[in-house]
Amino acid sequence: MRACLLLLSFLSLFGYCAFAQDEMHMPEGNSDRGRLIFGQCRTCHYPEKSVGHNNGPSLHQIFGKVVGSQQGFDYYSDFFAKASFVWTPTFMFHWLANPMQMFPESTMMSLGVVDPQERADLIAYLVEASE
Ligand code: HEC
Repeated sequence: MRACLLLLSFLSLFGYCAFAQDEMHMPEGNSDRGRLIFGQCRTCHYPEKSVGHNNGPSLHQIFGKVVGSQQGFDYYSDFFAKASFVWTPTFMFHWLANPMQMFPESTMMSLGVVDPQERADLIAYLVEASE
């Protein structure tokens, strides 16, 4: 009986993990498509090294950096300035689905990108543009 219960909880744990992994799944991105999708961000951000900040911080080499730490950008919200998470492609993939819902304290005014494939494309473009 005990073994059976153990097995049951193991199975439900496994089921949960499979679900969580599915939720986390980011499709393969295409940077050419991503360049066009980034158009809506470009009013406030540039990813190219030479261009610098706009209304929003430069997104050059944003992956691997702590949020709110782009040198020389003086207009971060208190929230981003104090937060300490690191931008990864997967995290950005989730955040961009609805940035204002995830972090209402941030001052970034963007509805994000609803379509998961478009988010993955945008991220592939940001990675490429940072090289
Ligand atoms: C209307 C201007 C505006 C638009 C449009 C916009 N952003 Fe932002 N973004 C900002 C501002 C301002 C901040 C700083 C927010 C804060 O400090 O709370 C920011 C912050 C960010 C950050 C965090 C940077 C860091 O240094 O930690 C990322 C990543 C980002 N934006 C990506 C995007 C992407 C991708 C899009 C397009 C889907 C986009 N933004 C659209 C203004 C904008």
